[in-house]
Amino acid sequence: MLITSLKLQNFRNYKEEKINFNNDINIIYGDNAQGKTNILEAVFVTSIGKSFRTSKDKELIKIGEDFSRIEVEFSKSDRNGTIKVEIADKKNIFVNGVKIKKLSELLGNMNIVIFTPDDINIFKNGPDKRRRFLDIFISQLRPNYIYNLNMYLKALEQRNNYLKQIKFENKSEEFLDIWDEKITEYAEKVFKYRFEFINKLKEKIKTVHSIITENNENIDIEYVSDFFNKEEFLKKLKATKKIDIMKGYTTKGIHRDDFNVYINDNLVNVFGSQGQRRTAVLSLKMSELNVIYDEIGENPILLLDDFMSELDEKRRTNFLNNIRDTQILVTCTDKFILEKNKFNLYNVKSGMIF
Ligand SMILES: Nc1ncnc2c1ncn2[C@@H]1O[C@H](COP(=O)(O)OP(=O)(O)OP(=O)(O)O)[C@@H](O)[C@H]1O
Ligand SMILES: [Mg+2]
Repeated sequence: MLITSLKLQNFRNYKEEKINFNNDINIIYGDNAQGKTNILEAVFVTSIGKSFRTSKDKELIKIGEDFSRIEVEFSKSDRNGTIKVEIADKKNIFVNGVKIKKLSELLGNMNIVIFTPDDINIFKNGPDKRRRFLDIFISQLRPNYIYNLNMYLKALEQRNNYLKQIKFENKSEEFLDIWDEKITEYAEKVFKYRFEFINKLKEKIKTVHSIITENNENIDIEYVSDFFNKEEFLKKLKATKKIDIMKGYTTKGIHRDDFNVYINDNLVNVFGSQGQRRTAVLSLKMSELNVIYDEIGENPILLLDDFMSELDEKRRTNFLNNIRDTQILVTCTDKFILEKNKFNLYNVKSGMIF
């Protein structure tokens, strides 16, 4: 699929700009702090409905202005479309001119895979970034996913509130069952989606990784969840009831889900070198791209933020030559020329494009 144009008004450091993209490689270059990542961020917002850099929509509005607007035109094999995101006191999103009521009406229109320098953290520290990766990936393909996840989180919050009421206000433990049932219902739905898509990644990642590492490394993914099936999960909730009441929050559930990635049987977030983590991220994202292709029958748009600076010239050319039929938007500080591909160059200088 393709993004054909992007129009920005009062978005970050942009006053008013329109960019037309080609269907191959679009190189957005310029010095630091000029507005390169802001362009990828704007595209991301039209795909997912929010930024990958902030959860506060207001930060996206150009300082001193009271609204921000992003408009994209996209093209898929079976249809063309437009998306408009307006941020002021509230955020309004329009798909093909019609204001949406639920986020799920936006998701799945613009399919993207994004690489940012921050992605190395997927394989560092705790599971938050890994869950976030899954959430963004799955919600593009199954718009219902986010609905079920949000319902789960809402029920979880209510269960946690009730746990505190049992502890501090002597409320009856009996009514906890209602919340157990509720969270189990949504946990099962989220679990099934995650299980399905982690398995799909698992199928792809072995091949992708052996190409990238020239057969030198073995990779594997494993889903880790407190959930297995409804009955067992309900039992788990009952078994940890006393601990949950004592702590005042729910200690078991899909809000703690994770996935483990092993390279040659070692956990990459524990034992991986910097380079192995980086390649694992690359393999993960390329697998994501392949799964999206299988699902929608065409490649998503690839957004590469500062990605090229991490590769030397040979790997850079190799990488770009190996990705076929995919529109790429790539940011970098130094402009580079490609021999084999069709490419456009955009020079970004303090919120303007030349
Ligand atoms: N809401 C805003 N209003 C005005 N300017 C903003 C706003 N948010 C960010 N900026 C400005 O945008 C610029 C950063 O843009 P961006 O992150 O796209 O830079 P970049 O070109 O990707 O730089 P780097 O090469 O360092 O990654 C900064 O100058 C910052 O002050
Ligand atoms: Mg940047």
